[in-house]
Amino acid sequence: MAGDLSVRAVSRAFGGLQAVRSVSFDVAPGEILGIIGPNGAGKSTLFNMIAGEVKPDSGSVSFEGQVITGRAVEAIARRGLVKTFQTSRPFGSLTFLENVMVAALSHAPSMAAARAAAREQLERVGLGHRADVPSAWASTGQRKRLDIARALATRPRLLLLDEPFGGVDLPSVDSLIALLQALRSTGITLVVIEHNLDAVQRLVDRLIALHLGEIVTMGTPAQVTSDERVIRAYLGASEATHA
Ligand SMILES: Nc1ncnc2c1ncn2[C@@H]1O[C@H](COP(=O)(O)OP(=O)(O)O)[C@@H](O)[C@H]1O
Ligand SMILES: [Mg+2]
Repeated sequence: MAGDLSVRAVSRAFGGLQAVRSVSFDVAPGEILGIIGPNGAGKSTLFNMIAGEVKPDSGSVSFEGQVITGRAVEAIARRGLVKTFQTSRPFGSLTFLENVMVAALSHAPSMAAARAAAREQLERVGLGHRADVPSAWASTGQRKRLDIARALATRPRLLLLDEPFGGVDLPSVDSLIALLQALRSTGITLVVIEHNLDAVQRLVDRLIALHLGEIVTMGTPAQVTSDERVIRAYLGASEATHA
């Protein structure tokens, strides 16, 4: 099926630190799955292993029925699985449109086609009016949308979004939720790492809670956020931070 993902017992250590330990889950086509967990839980490492940036020590990842474990980022992206960065890195001196064109060039047969595709994706994320200004002028919320437009320009069927609500001001949260839901309604599967529990609960169909590299629990947002072990993991993490 288009956009489905299967993660089987993936593990990764950095030196003596087990960042991710035997994590398994499936994502259905067109689903929005959220991944929560305190800082250092292993969320980004998990995404990096799925997207091809980090090789798992063991385990496997399949996308649309094909094993993609350990393949290069570009090869995985060409198959339709793309990750946006936790800290996005647009080229500040390029305009919004040019930034998206760079991504669109991977699929477009000509500059004109890349320009047209880029304009379409900018409109889609609500940034059409910013097309011709330098992306260095972007607000945090606009940078997140620009990031999504760049990812969309590569025509993904599954998007991995690492903290898309990070630093986004409150009024923009609702419109970002609406944008992500609109993407899903066009058939794109979404997996979203998010720190903002309120936003993620309103967005996702299902949640996975990670802690110390392992899945603590998964289920509906209501189930997961009311789970004692999840609450304790978050409280423990914030106590550790303030200690
Ligand atoms: N490239 C790396 N080298 C060494 N340690 C890393 C590396 N990437 C992540 N880690 C460590 O792995 C753990 C999980 O990190 P990460 O996946 O970024 O967690 P999260 O995204 O949930 O905050 C952390 O302790 C982090 O310091
Ligand atoms: Mg992270």
